[in-house]
Amino acid sequence: MNLPYAESYKIKMVESIKRSTKAERLEWIKNADYNLFNLRSNQVYVDLLTDSGTGAMSDKQWSAMMLGDESYAGASSYYKLKNAVKDILGFEYFLPTHQGRAAENVLFSTLVKAGDIVPGNSHFDTTKGHIEFRKAKAIDCTIDEAFNTTIQHDFKGNINLNRLETVLQDNSADKIPFIIVTVTCNSSGGQPVSMQNMKEVYQLAQEYKIRVIFDSARFAENAYFIKQREAGYADKSIKEIVKEMFSYADGMTMSSKKDAIVNMGGFIALREEKVFKEATVYNIMFEGFISYGGMSGRDMNALAQGLDEGTEFDVLDNRIQQVAYLGTKLKEYGVPVQEPFGGHAIFVDAKRFLSHLPKEEFLAQTLGVELFIEGGIRAVEIGAILADRDPETRENRYPELELLRLAIPRRTYTNNHMDYVAAAIKNVYDRRLEIKSGLKIMEEAPIMRHFTVKLDRI
Ligand code: F0G
Repeated sequence: MNLPYAESYKIKMVESIKRSTKAERLEWIKNADYNLFNLRSNQVYVDLLTDSGTGAMSDKQWSAMMLGDESYAGASSYYKLKNAVKDILGFEYFLPTHQGRAAENVLFSTLVKAGDIVPGNSHFDTTKGHIEFRKAKAIDCTIDEAFNTTIQHDFKGNINLNRLETVLQDNSADKIPFIIVTVTCNSSGGQPVSMQNMKEVYQLAQEYKIRVIFDSARFAENAYFIKQREAGYADKSIKEIVKEMFSYADGMTMSSKKDAIVNMGGFIALREEKVFKEATVYNIMFEGFISYGGMSGRDMNALAQGLDEGTEFDVLDNRIQQVAYLGTKLKEYGVPVQEPFGGHAIFVDAKRFLSHLPKEEFLAQTLGVELFIEGGIRAVEIGAILADRDPETRENRYPELELLRLAIPRRTYTNNHMDYVAAAIKNVYDRRLEIKSGLKIMEEAPIMRHFTVKLDRI
């Protein structure tokens, strides 16, 4: 008999979670204004809201925390992290920040001005928020295949080079501070960008004298997919692939809460000294002195260790296999999901799931509410609520993809939890036609509304 797949770790510490009744959940979700962000964590049984900051650190990361140097300036923990960024990612200049959006805030304060244009692949919401807040425009150049969940394509995070070149031709270089490439591309379903595409984007950018910045939250998962799917990379290590990936970027922003498996942290890394010097001023103003930038010494130690671990094949293999395990179960049950499966999450296609309801009734959010009621599972809407209103017309934006994301925290849940989640989704799928209407917005913030929106059932 062939031996089955199993994780390359064992569990040393556990945290209790509680199941609840359907009656309790109906009450809780109503009191939360049908916004899953408003639920208390102890009302949730399996929390798939995000894989950000929710992973389990290793024994080596916890022990590194005990050696944190909490000096205000020049801490050894800062140098440890700076060296890890240099060794693993290849960047000379580095600024720590408290999380990914803080890195965006600091770097974009330096580079983005009103009237600018930032092309990229399905910009993440905080990234787009930081661009639009500065009265600049984010232009999505993702390939069309990404927006059809039934098409098989190995690299649905790729940038359409013709579309990108048109943007570069139509606008002067001084209006385009950088092209942003999100690896993996969260908003299109945790989909990877191929090495070939990164290389071609970089070549094009150099022709037009424009910088390339990687939004790198899940860069290691992207490297894993390159190793599995792209010709010529099967025998390369994840660390070798990562090095090559970043050779096609001038800089990066990082949310360390994902692939570096820490609960909080972020950074900026750059090749250009001039940009680094300008960003340093904002970093000191918004985040903290350059040698900690919103992180404590112990957190920088855990992050340095996490960058090393997170770029090991086994760690990525365990994780991505677990995500695929859930995806395969859902497919067996006939549930429509984005394919190929994403790196950090399974994305349920709410348009196909609730095809009998109109898009104006916020399908993915409706599905998210139903899933919570069914099994106490919390997922997140990646659809029209997240897409916000158009900053100029103030009309609702309805993106091509209306997805419910089931993000899997790293090393946190077992496959029994995945079986439970799949069964709950199957139950909702089987009774989908009994869902007669969706949700309407009662109250919303002017920007990034999905965190605080209040909804009601129609
Ligand atoms: N870029 C990407 C691609 C992200 O997925 C995130 C966060 C950020 C930037 C911002 O980083 O949260 O550390 O400030 N994504 C989380 C998620 C919130 O649930 O996908 P942050």
